[in-house]
Amino acid sequence: MSSKAILEPQLTEISVENDPDILAAAARLAGEDLCSIADLSSSEVRAILKLGHDVKRNPRDYRHALDAKQMVLMFEKASLRTRLSFETGINTMGGNAIFVDQTNSPLGEREAISDVARNVDRWVDVIVLRTYAHDTIMEMGANARTPVINALSDFEHPCQALADFMTLEEHFGTVAGLNFTYVGDGNNVCHSLMLTGAQLGANVTIATPRGYSPDIEIVTKAREIAESNGSEIKLLQDPHAAVENADAIYTDVCVSMGMEHESTKRAPIFRPYQVNEALMAEASPRAVFMHCLPAHRNAEVTDAVLDGPQSIVFDQAENRMHAQKAVLLLLLGGLVNVTKFQ
Ligand code: CP
Ligand code: NVA
Repeated sequence: MSSKAILEPQLTEISVENDPDILAAAARLAGEDLCSIADLSSSEVRAILKLGHDVKRNPRDYRHALDAKQMVLMFEKASLRTRLSFETGINTMGGNAIFVDQTNSPLGEREAISDVARNVDRWVDVIVLRTYAHDTIMEMGANARTPVINALSDFEHPCQALADFMTLEEHFGTVAGLNFTYVGDGNNVCHSLMLTGAQLGANVTIATPRGYSPDIEIVTKAREIAESNGSEIKLLQDPHAAVENADAIYTDVCVSMGMEHESTKRAPIFRPYQVNEALMAEASPRAVFMHCLPAHRNAEVTDAVLDGPQSIVFDQAENRMHAQKAVLLLLLGGLVNVTKFQ
């Protein structure tokens, strides 16, 4: 199969304004937080993706959906994609973004997180947080009257996973029954991917070194969800066994932000998990390569794979914006301002 065939979108257009998943999600999610993919039902995950595809196809339909809405981004860690995709996302729907760099001033240090929440919610309509501790996001959510969105914590990266499965839908038409393999650290990205894959009925296989497997509570939750959707979650240590029949191979850095002190220890442990051309050749011939980025080139993935014909990493990056626009529309009740939904 040629690379062109792999990259050809096969998605069927739907009429979003009559879609039962979207209408139910618009009613249930208005005013809610998005801290974890587990906060969503399978139908709500499907709704976000369907709306994301429509926002991508018809951006003008949504250009006034969030007129004058204010979004604050408070980030304790560096970001390229997440910051810009949220900012461009709300700007193209009539809203405004305010960025607060918390890299030198972690949330909770200068003043209690509950007090930050009870100030900020007087001025803005949504709070987007990138933190170390997942509890920081939970505490902000518990105290703010506005929706709070997890833009990456040490535990989850839900917006990333939503964009990633939206990208897989573009490439394969549907992800139900798709064989999705993650190779590397059982980290925040891995957690959100497992939950999202389970919500959409994909078979998710994770290969991690011993001692780096995903959190057991997430695994248990993902298995429960997968079972109800007729799919499977497998945990392995052998990357070769994990990629057999894989339709998508995903990896992430083996040293996440905040773990830099473990770089030397981790490098040899993760070397056998590198995604290179030999490993890609063991997967299905139609397999795509995925990475949340930023990548450490020639560490967890080789240049040949990252820049090769099977790589869809920049489609993933683009879709961060479209998927997050869908999330913002649902949490901020923006569909009432979109003519086709009236
Ligand atoms: N994938 C991702 O979240 O990228 P940034 O760290 O650049 O935001
Ligand atoms: N696991 C990585 C993802 C970066 C987008 C980290 O947390 O640094």
